[in-house]
Amino acid sequence: MTVVPDPSRDAAPPAGSVSVRPATASDVPLIFENIGYWAGQGKMLVRPMPNIFENLRDFFVAEVATETGPVFAGNGALHILWGDIAEVRGLAVAPDVTARGVGRALVAACEAEARRIGIPVMFAWTYSVGFFEKCGFTLIDKTRELHPRVWSECLRCPFFVGCNENGLVKRLEGVPMPANLPEPPQAQVPPGIR
Ligand SMILES: CC(C)(COP(=O)(O)OP(=O)(O)OC[C@H]1O[C@@H](n2cnc3c(N)ncnc32)[C@H](O)[C@@H]1OP(=O)(O)O)[C@@H](O)C(=O)NCCC(=O)NCCS
Repeated sequence: MTVVPDPSRDAAPPAGSVSVRPATASDVPLIFENIGYWAGQGKMLVRPMPNIFENLRDFFVAEVATETGPVFAGNGALHILWGDIAEVRGLAVAPDVTARGVGRALVAACEAEARRIGIPVMFAWTYSVGFFEKCGFTLIDKTRELHPRVWSECLRCPFFVGCNENGLVKRLEGVPMPANLPEPPQAQVPPGIR
C-alpha cells in the first residue's frame, strides 16, 4: 500500500488565526510588558513580575499565526479562589490585535479550565463590562453579592478604598456545585477598614 502524504495535515495554521495555550516561563517578560502597558492606560492593575512567575500555572497565552510563526497576542489567567469560584484575572490583549477575538478566546480557555477542574462559577473584576457581558458574564452588585473569598482578596488590595471596578459572574451551565464543599473562611477585615 502506498501512503500519500496529506500536505494539509502538518500545515501551519492560516495567517491571522488565533490560538491559546498554557503560558511558559519564557512568556513572562511579554506578559509583564503587556499588563504594564494596559495598567499605564488605567485599564487594569499593574502586576509585578514575581507575582506573574508565582502564578504562572494560572496563565494562558494567545498567539496569532503569521507567515513567520506565532506571535504573542495576549494573556489571561484563571485563579481558583474556592471550590465554587475562580477569577479571570490578568486579561490583556496586545494593543495591536484588539477587536479580533483574542480576548474572547482567552476567556474561553479560562472557562474550559474551570470546567475541567469542576468549578461552576467564574468571576471577574473589570472596567470592560461590555466585553465580559459579550462573554456571558452578568454584572453583580459588589456591595451585596461578593463571594467571601473575593471579598477577602479585596481587603488585601491597595485600591480597596474608592475601588471603581465592576464585578461580573458567569455560572457555567452543566458544572454542578462540588460535593462536600466546605464553608469558606470569613474575610479578615484589616485594622482601619470598616
Ligand atoms: C477588553 C479586552 C480584553 C477585549 O479583548 P478583545 O480581543 O479586544 O475583544 P474581542 O475581539 O474578543 O471581543 C469580543 C466581543 O466583545 C466586544 N468588546 C470588546 N471590548 C469591548 C468593550 N470594551 N466594551 C464592549 N464590548 C467590547 C467586541 O465587540 C466583541 O463583540 P462581538 O463578538 O459581538 O463582535 C481587550 O481590549 C483588553 O485587553 N483591554 C485592556 C485590558 C482590559 O480591559 N482587560 C479586562 C480585564 S481587567
